[in-house]
Amino acid sequence: MGRVLRVTAAELEAALQSLRDGELVAFPTETVYGLGADAGNPAAVRRIFEVKDRPARHPLIVHLPGVDLLREWAREVPEGALRLAERFWPGPLTLVLPRAERVDDAVTGGQDTVALRVPSHPVARQLLSGFRGGIAAPSANRYGRLSPTRAEHVREELGAAVRVILDGGDCRIGLESTIVAFQGRQVRLLRPGAITAAQIRRTVGELGVGADEASPRVPGSTLAHYAPVTPLTIVPAGQLEARVEALSAGGRRVAVLAPRAPRVLRTGVAWIDAGQRAAQYGHDLYGNLRALDKSGCHEILVQEVPQTQAWAAVRDRLRRAAGAGAEACSEARVG
Ligand code: TXA
Ligand code: MG
Repeated sequence: MGRVLRVTAAELEAALQSLRDGELVAFPTETVYGLGADAGNPAAVRRIFEVKDRPARHPLIVHLPGVDLLREWAREVPEGALRLAERFWPGPLTLVLPRAERVDDAVTGGQDTVALRVPSHPVARQLLSGFRGGIAAPSANRYGRLSPTRAEHVREELGAAVRVILDGGDCRIGLESTIVAFQGRQVRLLRPGAITAAQIRRTVGELGVGADEASPRVPGSTLAHYAPVTPLTIVPAGQLEARVEALSAGGRRVAVLAPRAPRVLRTGVAWIDAGQRAAQYGHDLYGNLRALDKSGCHEILVQEVPQTQAWAAVRDRLRRAAGAGAEACSEARVG
């Protein structure tokens, strides 16, 4: 895995000054790179939506330096939420809680809840403890596209619009945080991530999975999110070679992402063997999809991944990258 870089004092100071000036700063977290603004400055927060082309009412996550600030941003902290925060922060977990008075509508998209997270990446921690406030940040990509897991991904996609990009190397996890929402007495998993449903259950007991009618909106769960530009299809393992063969015979250039090497080597087919370990596969996923997207192929085929819990976050992102149809959506609801 990549080195964890620390930024220089001058770079950190420049980033802090930008935040105080109401400008945007891209920064690394252990999950993906974020595009940050002072969460207490609505005009700065609105800039995020402009730069990303993100619909204005999609809520953002507020990143905090530590658990101790939780009560400044959430007006209620249920017992279970506090236990999760104590157990998993700093780390790849986001809690959706009733928002405190001070939280602006620009951050929450007008909802009565706010998403909060304390990231563990050393550069994110340096930035947050220097800033001593909340930093609102979505992933640092254009709306609907793949999340960036390296500074160069951010530079490629947003470099013209974002002056300060802190380089913290390769993100350790590579997939966005697990999101857990507390609504009344209900606890729901809104987005799977590196912290699994089983781990959450061990701390809070009962856990619903997927959004229900009463759940807050999670735009990440709309179709065709986290998507490459090239059409992407998920294919059962046993059909992969035949699909590649048929498409190639029809003159289509095909790129493949699979947890294994090809059985037959074909010229002209870009094939990434992403391995059989879920954590490594997830860590590499967005980078691999970016590479295949750029390979000049007509189609990306992805071999179906296992149905086990360890692969839940990867399955979720692949389904969205494929622009999941109605069937995949109902699967997402039951988990
Ligand atoms: O790992 C991560 O969570 C990364 C890093 C940068 O922290 N951030 C991230 O942000 O993935 P974004 O905006 O790409 O995804 C945040 C998700 C969105 O799906 C958003 O709808 C959801 O969090 N969210 C934010 N506030 C919410 C709320 N009040 N209720 C429900 N969902 C919320
Ligand atoms: Mg995102």
